[in-house]
Amino acid sequence: MDLKKLNLKFSKIELPRLELPKFKLPKIKMPELKIGDIKARIPIIQGGMGVGISLSKLSSAVANEGGIGVIAANAIGMIEPDYFKNGVEANMRALRKEIRKARSLSDGIIGVNIMIALNDFQNMLQVSIEEKVDIVFLGAGLPLRGIPIKEIRRANVKVVPIVSSARAVRLIFKYWQKNFDTIPDGVVVEGPKAGGHLGFKEEDIENPDFRIENLIPEVIKEVKEFEKEFEREIPVIAAGGIFNGKDIYKFLKLGANGVQMGSRFVATEECDADINFKKSFVDSKKEDIVIIHSPVGMPGRAILNSFLKDVNSGEKKEFKCPWRCLESCKADNANYCISIALNNARKGILKHGFAFAGANAYRIDKIVPVEELINEITEDYLAVVENGIIRIKNEYEKVKKKLIGLKEEYEKTIERVSNLLKEEYNKAFTKDSAKVKGEPEKSFSKIDWLKSEYIENFKLIDEIKAKIMARTFGLI
Ligand SMILES: Cc1cc2nc3c(=O)[nH]c(=O)nc-3n(C[C@H](O)[C@H](O)[C@H](O)COP(=O)(O)O)c2cc1C
Repeated sequence: MDLKKLNLKFSKIELPRLELPKFKLPKIKMPELKIGDIKARIPIIQGGMGVGISLSKLSSAVANEGGIGVIAANAIGMIEPDYFKNGVEANMRALRKEIRKARSLSDGIIGVNIMIALNDFQNMLQVSIEEKVDIVFLGAGLPLRGIPIKEIRRANVKVVPIVSSARAVRLIFKYWQKNFDTIPDGVVVEGPKAGGHLGFKEEDIENPDFRIENLIPEVIKEVKEFEKEFEREIPVIAAGGIFNGKDIYKFLKLGANGVQMGSRFVATEECDADINFKKSFVDSKKEDIVIIHSPVGMPGRAILNSFLKDVNSGEKKEFKCPWRCLESCKADNANYCISIALNNARKGILKHGFAFAGANAYRIDKIVPVEELINEITEDYLAVVENGIIRIKNEYEKVKKKLIGLKEEYEKTIERVSNLLKEEYNKAFTKDSAKVKGEPEKSFSKIDWLKSEYIENFKLIDEIKAKIMARTFGLI
């Protein structure tokens, strides 16, 4: 044995880093929601709810909590005394007043929800632009013709269509690209569990292919292409049946950038509807949440009550159409005027109207302030993240234990080889080295093995650390 070589090899062994990485976890938060240059502190949009369910009070309360508060424009003039005489004018006046009121109550993000199918869609959009709201959500139809894009961009109003399929996204984005040389600023994908009018055929509502969990990845794929082409991020927002922080976590993990929630905001103190409307959510049971055929010509989800039972069984509710607010309205076939019915419900007169509600509305058991609701949802979300972190941290501790074991064995083996070398060295001088020959080599290869094992496990620790960080920031 060449002792010089052995000595050399031994002196060359480098101990890998033995200190273990330490964690300093930053404060865990829900991620922000960015839509163009607007940034909501929490990724929650309060869905626009007509008639008069989400006005200045609810929207400003949500905006004050860091979410996006939305005023619903449809038939908003019903809160004015002259709606039945001057419907068009009352709508414009009421919308303007509510936007201004919301602005006076909050410095947060305020949006307006406008149904494209409305006969006064252009008026409602015009008021929103003039009042420079932060964002408009355009639903119940495709925002194609008649979008005053120059004025919208000049007023820095973001435009977000509400869709129910990737196909609709493609249609809208292609049309905008071709005709306006721009694209919308985001999309809300409303699945079949939402409250209000639904963008699905009745037979598709229960079809698993149309579940929001399936629609989100399809829409994300669709917008990717446009994001690349326009070098802009297009946030995708999930809506319909989203109830708590766990749900939000699930949709963010699926790739959505935020959520839109409606029903949960009905059961808040600040919701602009009468207490009886809110109570009907708290009192509802699963079997009360039903699909209706709306006079608008779309299916809708609502809480079954005596009014709906009456009209379903053919009873005609007397009404005088104030001004034909919807071109597609089939009020005569439906036996009632939906705007009047919804307005009665808003005022708490549920025997002459009904409440739209999402599929999970029956799970609501109390009316709380918006702040409390947002705190509950946030804590719920953070608990999911923390649970995940605890699980990964346990994984980390296991690998750490293994590393300590390896390190001990590594050091013991080094000590052993060093003793053997000493022995070999002495024996060489007494010309009796045959007994120990080969032992140091074996130990060297063990050291090499231990070293590579250690390094592999150290890498694993780094990977686990990265996982913990990603989870902290809601990326996985
Ligand atoms: C009472 C009520 C009224 C609604 N009105 C509208 C509306 O005027 N325009 C609209 O685009 N969506 C409307 N929606 C849908 C909500 O904006 C939201 O997308 C939906 O409720 C999400 O489902 P969730 O209730 O399960 O959270 C309404 C929903 C409810 C519950």
